[in-house]
Amino acid sequence: MKEVVLKNGLSMKPNAVVTKCLFPVAGLGTRFLPVTKEIAKEMLPLVDRPVISYGVEEAIESGCRDIIMITGRTKRSIEDYFDSSFELESILRDRGKMELYEKIHSISEMANILYVRQREPLGLGHAVLCGEPFCRDGYFGVILPDDVFVSDVAVLKQLIEVHRRLGGSVVALEEIPRSEVSRYGIVKSRIESDGVHRIIDMVEKPSPEEAPGNFAIMGRYILSPAIFPLLAEGRAGAGGEIQLTDAMKRLLETEPMWGLVYRGRRFDCGTQKGWLAANIQLALEDADLNPVILDIVNAFKER
Ligand code: UTP
Repeated sequence: MKEVVLKNGLSMKPNAVVTKCLFPVAGLGTRFLPVTKEIAKEMLPLVDRPVISYGVEEAIESGCRDIIMITGRTKRSIEDYFDSSFELESILRDRGKMELYEKIHSISEMANILYVRQREPLGLGHAVLCGEPFCRDGYFGVILPDDVFVSDVAVLKQLIEVHRRLGGSVVALEEIPRSEVSRYGIVKSRIESDGVHRIIDMVEKPSPEEAPGNFAIMGRYILSPAIFPLLAEGRAGAGGEIQLTDAMKRLLETEPMWGLVYRGRRFDCGTQKGWLAANIQLALEDADLNPVILDIVNAFKER
């Protein structure tokens, strides 16, 4: 395993395992208004469970034992969801609904989850910085739960494997059409090996003319704790928020960073259209729900 020597003389061994994962979920979710006025978009259902549950399951599957959620106003329901529900559980037990009881009880046993409040939504970079007290001792994962992945191997785990092999930070990449680059962080990179890119530069939401390529960063990262001092400098980037991309660009000056073209399918649940499409797609892939959706569509066509 490569030891990373930083410009300031410090050296940092990559973790053999990444055990901590940050979930920044304190954003306002304006693209979902008015729903998000009082409801956490992460708690909207994706077929049979909240959107955020998919991200938590991915983190656990990837070997993360500690999950740190950076939350804000309107996000309390996330805490309640992952907490034990004593009253409900005892009612289910008393009524002999043991299968349902097990299902509900297992949710609170999923992981060790900590909650930190981001008092003001000062951007994704600031939200990550709020996790510093828990993540400053080693490389850590970041999951943006709006991006839901369905894959054979958990996407965060795919990133952890690259980190183990090559050291340094790792981001999930997807090749997107030029016309969509202004919605994402876009990297300039050179191909290192199958699916792995060495990141050279990155730019947040460029115009198609300015974009250095068409590989976009999706919501999964393995980050070095050296990101925290860079975030703390709090340089306000685009939109007056503390941008994660700006700090990552500076991290590139001192540490290697890799991009992995992930293997799997992504569903963007950060917008109403994307969330609705994900529900329909995943319901169509469910044996029980498939005929329900097809019946509705066929009845609609015959109207
Ligand atoms: P987005 O850019 O998608 O913003 O944040 P958002 O607030 O969730 O949604 P829109 O754009 O207003 O509809 C990317 C991720 O960063 C988190 C969000 O919760 C999301 O997971 N975030 C963003 C924070 O935790 N804090 C912030 O101040 C901003």
